[in-house]
Amino acid sequence: MSGKPRGKGARVLFNCTECGAQASKWSGQCGACGAWNTLVEDVARPAGNRGGLKLDAFATASEVRAISEIGADDEVRIATGFSELDRVLGGGLVQGSVVLIGGDPGIGKSTLLTQTMGALSQVVSTLYVSGEESPRQVSLRARRLGMPVERLRLLAETEVERILLLADREKPGVMVIDSIQTIFTSQVQSAPGSVSQVRESAAMLVQYAKRTGTALFLVGHVTKEGMLAGPRILEHMVDTVLYFEGDVDNRFRVLRAVKNRFGAVNEMGVFAMVDHGLREVSNPSAIFLSRHEEAVSGSVVMVTREGSRPVLVEIQSLVSESHAPNPRRLAVGLDQNRLAILLAVLQRHCGIAMYDQDVFVNVVGGMRVSETAADLAVVMAALSSLRNRPLPVDLVVFGEVGLAGEVRPVQNGQERLREAVQHGFTQAMVPKANAPRKPIEGLRVIPVQTVGEATGFLSA
Ligand code: TYD
Ligand code: MG
Repeated sequence: MSGKPRGKGARVLFNCTECGAQASKWSGQCGACGAWNTLVEDVARPAGNRGGLKLDAFATASEVRAISEIGADDEVRIATGFSELDRVLGGGLVQGSVVLIGGDPGIGKSTLLTQTMGALSQVVSTLYVSGEESPRQVSLRARRLGMPVERLRLLAETEVERILLLADREKPGVMVIDSIQTIFTSQVQSAPGSVSQVRESAAMLVQYAKRTGTALFLVGHVTKEGMLAGPRILEHMVDTVLYFEGDVDNRFRVLRAVKNRFGAVNEMGVFAMVDHGLREVSNPSAIFLSRHEEAVSGSVVMVTREGSRPVLVEIQSLVSESHAPNPRRLAVGLDQNRLAILLAVLQRHCGIAMYDQDVFVNVVGGMRVSETAADLAVVMAALSSLRNRPLPVDLVVFGEVGLAGEVRPVQNGQERLREAVQHGFTQAMVPKANAPRKPIEGLRVIPVQTVGEATGFLSA
C-alpha cells in the first residue's frame, strides 16, 4: 500500500475487510467483529463527505406508507437469455437489483456477462463498463462468441463519477461493472482495490441503480482464500451474490446463489465452457454421474437435490484394513462428523464394526452433498466396500438414518424417483414412507424401515 497519493490532512487508519469497521491503530484482531488478521491500512476520507452518499440514496423515497399502498407489481423481471442464470436469480433479472458475481480470475465471469448482455441488448438498453480490458479486447471476445453486438454499448472507464455521468446520459436498463476492484472514486484518496475504494465506489453504483431502476451486475474477483477481494461488506450492500466456480482444467462451471433477496439461495446453474463461450447444461445428472458398465463394490448412486432440482450423484467408498492406531475417517463432499455417526449406527444396530478399518467416502464429480438424504447411500457404499460386494448398477439409494437405526423419509421423494427413472434406473431403495402409493412404471421400489433391513440386502 505504499506510494499511494495521500492528500493534505489525510489520516491513516485501518479498515476491517470482514465487517468494514474502522480503527485508528492496527491490531491483530478486529475490535468490532472479532475476526483475526483482517485490518488493512487505508486513508481516511475528508470528513466533509462522510455519510453524504448514503444519506441521499433514498432521499426521494423517504415517506412513510402502508405496505398495502405499495404495489407488488413493482417487481419487473427480465429473462437473461440463459435459463440457468434466470433460475439462479430466482426467475430472471429484477429491475433495479444489484447482483454481485464473484469467482476466481479466468473462470469465465466476463464471458458469462458478455453473452448475457449480448442477449439482453436485444430487449433492453445495455452498457458494459470494463475497467480491466480495452474496448478492443471486449469487442473481440463478443464477436468470437458470435453475439449480436450492434446494440451492446461499451465503456472503458474506471472512475465512478465519470461512469455515472455517462450512464445518466445513456440510461441503460442493465449495466455491468467488470470489475469492482478496478473502479475508484476521486472522493477517496486510497488506491483502487482498497477497502474504502471498493466500498465507496460500490455504494455510489448501488445508489445509482436504486435511484434509476437500472439492473446492475458487479464483477468481483475472489482471492486465493476464497473470499471476495475487498470488503466482505460488499456482500451486504448488494441484493444478490452469485459465485461462479469450477476447475479451470475442467470445462464445467457452476453458478451458485449464496444470497438472494429475490429468490432462493443454494440454487445452482450449470454451464460448460466450450470454444465459443459458455453453454448451458440443463441436465446436470448426466455430468455428475459416471455410469459403470459393470457393478463395482463401494459405489452407490443417490438422488440429491441442488436448489430446486433433483440431481443424481455417485457416492464412492473405500474401506480397507487400518494399521494406524487411529483408523482414518475421511469424507470428501460430505460431512465428516456425519460419517462417524453413521459408522457408529452400523456398529450399534447392525453389529457391523469398522473400528479396525480406514473408511474413505467421496462424492464423484466434485459435488458437495449436505443433506441427510445421503445417509443411507453412505452406509450402503461403506458396507459394499467392506464386504467387497457390489450393488446393482441400476439401483439408486436415498434416505436419512436416525441414531436409533431407523430410516427416515426425505423431502420430494417422488420427484427423486422420477429423476432416477428418467436416467434409466430400475430399482430404488428408499425409506418406507417415501415409497410411492401408486407403482411407478419400470421401477422396483425396495422400501426399508431400518438400517438392518437395508444392510440385509447385501448379505442375502
Ligand atoms: P473470462 O471470462 O475472461 O474470465 P474472468 O472474467 O472470470 O476472469 O474467461 C477466460 C477463460 O475462458 C480463458 O481461460 C479462456 C476461456 N474461454 C474459452 O474457453 N472459450 C471462450 O469462448 C472464451 C471467450 C473464453
Ligand atoms: Mg474478466
